[in-house]
Amino acid sequence: MTNNRIVDHPVLGRLADRKEITFTFDGTEYTGYEGDTVASALLAHGIRTLRVHEESKRPRSIYCNIGHCYECRVMVDDARGVRACLTPIKEGMVVSSGKGLPNPLDASIPPEELPRTYQEYEEQSKEGKGDTDA
Ligand code: FES
Repeated sequence: MTNNRIVDHPVLGRLADRKEITFTFDGTEYTGYEGDTVASALLAHGIRTLRVHEESKRPRSIYCNIGHCYECRVMVDDARGVRACLTPIKEGMVVSSGKGLPNPLDASIPPEELPRTYQEYEEQSKEGKGDTDA
């Protein structure tokens, strides 16, 4: 296992004392530790790309790491738009790289149906609307 971790921290304790958790990302199995977020567990394995930008297709990763920017959104189990920087890993969790937000330039989506806020985006995602699977 790639280890980009602090193995003995004066406040957090010893890594060896933490419970290992297994999850998958894009079909590959990874191990993290109790207390890891999806983003921190993947970063410890050297994985920085969590999704690609809808238009440019350039890789996107952690930006704020505090839940504000949504750059780290991934798909967890069946939920879209999940922020990897805030979501703790769980045993057996299935994580997929984030699919795109609705593309405002996609003429097939009427403008009045595009989400205007992240809350609307999350609600539409739960309903299975708006996300592109391409
Ligand atoms: S990195 Fe900004 S919300 Fe996760």
